Amino acid sequence: MADDYLVKPFTHHELLWKVRVHVRLANAQRQLMVANERLELHAMDLERLVAERTGQLTATQDMAVFALAELADSRDPETGEHLHRIRYYAQAIAEELGSHGPYKDLIDERFLKDLYRSSPLHDIGKVAVPDCILQKPARLTPDEFETMKKHVVVGALTLERAGGFVGQGTFMDMAADIARYHHERFDGTGYCAGLRGDEIPLAARIVTLVDVYDALTSRRVYKPAFELEYAKELILRGVGTQFDPVIVEAFLRRFEDFQKFKEGSVANRRFQEFRDELTLSASSEQAVQPMAPCGPC
Ligand SMILES: [Fe+2]
Ligand SMILES: [Fe+2]
Repeated sequence: MADDYLVKPFTHHELLWKVRVHVRLANAQRQLMVANERLELHAMDLERLVAERTGQLTATQDMAVFALAELADSRDPETGEHLHRIRYYAQAIAEELGSHGPYKDLIDERFLKDLYRSSPLHDIGKVAVPDCILQKPARLTPDEFETMKKHVVVGALTLERAGGFVGQGTFMDMAADIARYHHERFDGTGYCAGLRGDEIPLAARIVTLVDVYDALTSRRVYKPAFELEYAKELILRGVGTQFDPVIVEAFLRRFEDFQKFKEGSVANRRFQEFRDELTLSASSEQAVQPMAPCGPC
């Protein structure tokens, strides 16, 4: 389709004038295209920069949160990789629940991300439990158990207060729920709230199972690490009483992944122990300071 026309008869000047106008127009269009391309490139650069900065910010936040959780857990010497495993196991179960089954619609990208970030904080309230209870190599007395139980409330209150600084709707809401309810039981006989079934937040029900499974398969001051198959059997004994049956099913479907991850982390720990031994023998001439005795609790 023509952009313009000249009515005959036209003069030499009219023709020249039209040509000049259209050359200018074509130049302006070209400049506009170049400017648009530059603008698009600039917008892409900005987007990339924002994504990069957001990623860095999120990673820094994750690192700070995880470091905090590790610090809280560091008084329990046998839980070195516990938090990494909890995070991995919880994520695997949530992915499984999100792929099919009755909880499918409750699990989205946001749930997975929040769970990834908040599950390591489940026992942060243990900072309030004295060492002599936390590290006791024997069964706790009823009074000691009452003290131990308080870690769920201390943890939840701490996380709720911390979450209050950034407002509602962040992963801290889920973190507080997990801290408060990860010792509830499906049949309502857990602590501290005594919630049952789906009254217990889904994230907390997931962490309950993975926390118990990891405790069963890890050495503790009061017990050896159980074989993975035996731990699975013990989990199955708690279906419907301690654990949500739907979550146990998801656990069974992903059990192979759990096994692989555990084997990987055991191999990694052995390598670290080997490296520590080398470091120790290299510095064997240095005097070893005796540990300070534990204070009264
Ligand atoms: Fe706990
Ligand atoms: Fe734990």
